Amino acid sequence: MNAHWNDNKIYNEARKIVGAIIQHITYKEYLLNVLNDPTREKYGLKLSNTGFVDEYEASVNPTIKNAFAAAAYRFGHSMIPPVEGLKKKNNRLVEDEFLEQIFLDQDFLLQKSARAVEMLAQYAITEPSREVDRFFESAIRNRLFENVEDVGFDLTALNIQRGRDHGLPAYVDWRVYCELDTEKLISFQELHLTHDQHAIEQLGKAYANVRDIDLYAGAMSEQRLPNSYVGPTFSCLIGEQFEALKKGDRFWYEMPTRQGFKEGKILQSFELNNLKMIEAKLNLALRTSDLREQSHDVHTIF
Ligand code: HEM
Repeated sequence: MNAHWNDNKIYNEARKIVGAIIQHITYKEYLLNVLNDPTREKYGLKLSNTGFVDEYEASVNPTIKNAFAAAAYRFGHSMIPPVEGLKKKNNRLVEDEFLEQIFLDQDFLLQKSARAVEMLAQYAITEPSREVDRFFESAIRNRLFENVEDVGFDLTALNIQRGRDHGLPAYVDWRVYCELDTEKLISFQELHLTHDQHAIEQLGKAYANVRDIDLYAGAMSEQRLPNSYVGPTFSCLIGEQFEALKKGDRFWYEMPTRQGFKEGKILQSFELNNLKMIEAKLNLALRTSDLREQSHDVHTIF
């Protein structure tokens, strides 16, 4: 098919397809779990029913915001499980190891098998991750990189320190920015609508003043919104970021113009568990891996 295409054309066509699939999976399946329905509605993150829509706004800056990278999107660190492993396609466990023993350890993959990356992915999509909350595994809280450094690092402390290095405003400022409060809080007890009592007490022990609370610490200890991985402050920051990534992208795959993805209609009904269908419809042979045969939604496994 298209034997007359040159290298450049093949590269750009393939890039367009992969970009469209990634955008589609991210907004249709992944964000569906991270942010609840009202939040995705508020920030315009839902996809069109027809496969095509033009929401491009030239004034929207789609670059990654400081508070998103240095704090909000690090919520995933709370999902990290204590063990990683390799599984065959039939789900048989080949090997598993405590995370603190295999940080940065390429041999864990390279020496095992030519299919080790697939086996790692098979393990990841069939084993539960941890719930997103203010609790983190000891492997990353006390023993991060312990196997390659003299000491174990604390990833949550790094996140908080990174927020300070980057000059992020305090948690109470973000609450005002996200319209949780009309003015900055003055007491810990005012957190009671977003935090449980134990979290408020713990924050009170760690910080002398409610206005000192770091964004990461304050937002990660919020109670999650219903049907969401995160609380209201990170819902706001993550929602805003993904809105900008969508509306500020002239090449967003749903664009009905030639900058978009002309096969958008096919993707519109595409589910991750149906990659074979899209391969057939686009007349492609996506040599992803046997993982495409997984018949469940990998994002919903807890
Ligand atoms: C075993 C799993 C993971 C490990 C060991 C890990 C470790 C790290 C480390 C060491 C950093 C740099 C911290 C610093 O010095 O500031 C980092 C940054 C980050 N992590 Fe993770 N992480 C993991 C999984 C995740 C997940 C699941 C997510 C989100 C869903 C995530 C999101 C981020 C983000 C957004 C940054 C900042 C990136 C940047 O601005 O350059 N991480 N992570």
